[in-house]
Amino acid sequence: MAATSGIFDLSGKVALVTGGASGIGSGIAAVLAEAGATVVIADIDEGRARAEAATLTAAGHRAGAVQIDVAGEGSIIDGCAKVVADYGSPWILVNNAGLQHREMLLDATVDFWDRTLDVNARGPYLLSREVARSMVEKGDGGRIVHIASASLIGSLVKGHAAYASSKAALLGLAHASALELVEHRITVNIVMPGGVATPGAIGAQGPSPDGPARRPPPLGMCEPRDIGAAVLFFASPAAARVTNQALAVDGGWSLT
Ligand SMILES: NC(=O)c1ccc[n+]([C@@H]2O[C@H](COP(=O)([O-])OP(=O)(O)OC[C@H]3O[C@@H](n4cnc5c(N)ncnc54)[C@H](O)[C@@H]3O)[C@@H](O)[C@H]2O)c1
Repeated sequence: MAATSGIFDLSGKVALVTGGASGIGSGIAAVLAEAGATVVIADIDEGRARAEAATLTAAGHRAGAVQIDVAGEGSIIDGCAKVVADYGSPWILVNNAGLQHREMLLDATVDFWDRTLDVNARGPYLLSREVARSMVEKGDGGRIVHIASASLIGSLVKGHAAYASSKAALLGLAHASALELVEHRITVNIVMPGGVATPGAIGAQGPSPDGPARRPPPLGMCEPRDIGAAVLFFASPAAARVTNQALAVDGGWSLT
């Protein structure tokens, strides 16, 4: 049963959430499921994706899981085809899976850049293509939401040159794809989280975090569900005429 109604009701909609097995993605999945969506958690870690889906179904929501490695085009194509076959075309795609490791510019390596960009930018690019094709074929519009980072407009830590570049790519991707998809009533928007204490953020590898983003945000650290609430807005009927927009959910970090 949907806990929300009216302009935030997602009953009958299928939502594909990448990286939904952990952290921010699991918060997004929970909020969308509570709004009535059938949430398909796509993650490289199939076991944790299944466990997360089982938690949602045990709570009375509709959910499933699929293994997708967003760094692999073949995995994306196969995974999206499986989702369409099993659940129907997604109406919502949330490109959330991402890596947050650090490497200082003076130590920069091609391998680090490629890995970061493959997961954080090329993955969302290819997923947008695959899912938008099924949305267009269904002819019922759709919603694409990319999870970028508030570091694009606010505080940073050192070592994030590749990471920030990968997230900046999502701004260009959203701008350009929103133009191409608007005639199909598919919107493309961005949520930019500030600091969220997730397994990925806490376990990020590289030089120890240092820089202005170490300052506490005035409204407190965000929770995964805070990011989910912003995704729900862009994904909901309330945002039917909102596209090519970016919203920071950062606890006021940009003020510090
Ligand atoms: N946590 C923060 O402070 C913060 C701030 C700004 C933006 N973000 C962004 O939010 C998103 C989620 O981050 P998080 O902190 O929840 O991280 P997390 O590591 O806790 O969760 C990321 C999930 O993505 C999955 N994943 C990783 N590589 C994958 C791949 N190749 N294919 C499919 N799935 C893959 C992981 O298995 C994991 O379940 C990321 O895009 C991150 O850049 C996080």
